[in-house]
Amino acid sequence: GDKSITHRAIMLSSIANGPSIINNAHVGKDCLATIQCLKAMGVKIERYNDKVIIHGKGLYGLNSPFDLLDAENSATTVRILSGILSAQNFPSVIFGDTSLAKRPMKRIIDPLTSMGAKINSTYNNDCIPLEISPSRLRGIDYRTPILSAQIKSALLFAGLYADGPTSYTEEYQTRNHTELLMKNFGIDISVEPGERVAVGMVPNASDSDMENGLIGSTIGEHLFYKNVTTTLYPKGEFNGRNIQIPGDMSAAAFVIGAALLIPNSAVKILNVGVNETRDGLLRVLQSMGADITMLNYREHEGESMADLLVRTSELCATTIEGPFIPNIIDEIPMLAVIASLAKGTTIIKDAKELRYKESDRITSTVTNLRSMGVNATETEDGMIIEGTDHLEGAIVGSFMDHRIAMAFSIAGLVAKGETRILNSHCVDISYPNFYDTFMFE
Ligand code: S3P
Repeated sequence: GDKSITHRAIMLSSIANGPSIINNAHVGKDCLATIQCLKAMGVKIERYNDKVIIHGKGLYGLNSPFDLLDAENSATTVRILSGILSAQNFPSVIFGDTSLAKRPMKRIIDPLTSMGAKINSTYNNDCIPLEISPSRLRGIDYRTPILSAQIKSALLFAGLYADGPTSYTEEYQTRNHTELLMKNFGIDISVEPGERVAVGMVPNASDSDMENGLIGSTIGEHLFYKNVTTTLYPKGEFNGRNIQIPGDMSAAAFVIGAALLIPNSAVKILNVGVNETRDGLLRVLQSMGADITMLNYREHEGESMADLLVRTSELCATTIEGPFIPNIIDEIPMLAVIASLAKGTTIIKDAKELRYKESDRITSTVTNLRSMGVNATETEDGMIIEGTDHLEGAIVGSFMDHRIAMAFSIAGLVAKGETRILNSHCVDISYPNFYDTFMFE
């Protein structure tokens, strides 16, 4: 189940009236942390494997927690929940682990404060712990300087409690799961798509590669929306409902990577969420020449899903930038590993946000690629990767970052010799049965 949608479904169901059933929920550690925080505020939540039943308490039904709220490793939990906590009539403190303590929170503190929220960072460093005091919120028009679905979601959740509409404008649309879910709950929310821009993708391939047919299948223009404004009109209470969560594209990315790189593979991945704000990985890979076929496409309540048939492919390099970046932000470590085995030089830019994830993913990805013999270089907002014909097995770090551990486990599968991934248990954050999927020893 998709991690982003599950976080939002848990939070929205908790402040809805009456029961909601979440099917195919993501049950990695991050979403379990969100569940624990809401349980600590009196929400009754039952879990049967990946089915989660939430007995919503209504917009104003949360209780004052007896203890600090522990978001563990999950920035999504802190950032979005802060939007809800800001509007409660009780004080709360939210904190997490040492990795989360380094992640920037000013990005939500500032706009929530302009809505009237009272948020104090305990150590005055704009990081957790955040001490949140009761306040009355007002609707604002906010244009974000950072492309982040977490900031957008924090404001939309806070907007449910505001005295007027809240609108949020972003240069390029980030994942829109909050908007879709809120609409399904009957909340009055509208999206002005702004201007349509077409971005061309051309492979970084030599003329001879072009002549030999080593070029992508869907090279050409990709459409994005620029200056997208989302407006929420608060109308009070709403009711619980059933929610079906699609499979997580960001987890499927590792299976896709393995299938593309391991010789003679053909893998069908079922029920993958292919929402157009999350399908950039497929578009980029297809333009690199990947043999990926989308089967059985269907839509359900605004989200879309498909089965993906992925076959081993000879790939060529590309340049990834601009509006593609928010769409593929969590898939970049895997994409970098794939690019390291593509023909030519791949350039990733406009991706400085990678430095603020569970690890600095520009440094962690480039460091590990170099350990495996790849000529990769960091830039301030991305990386340059020279494709090679093989990876060397190596000892690599996970940097305690689940997506780095998984991307380099796939690298290890195709490398010559043994690869050891240090602290690989951190895959539990988003893909607890990752190693079972690949039947690693
Ligand atoms: C997420 C949004 C992204 C992503 C994160 C999950 C979400 O972060 O990297 O893993 O669920 O909204 P930003 O919104 O900060 O870019």
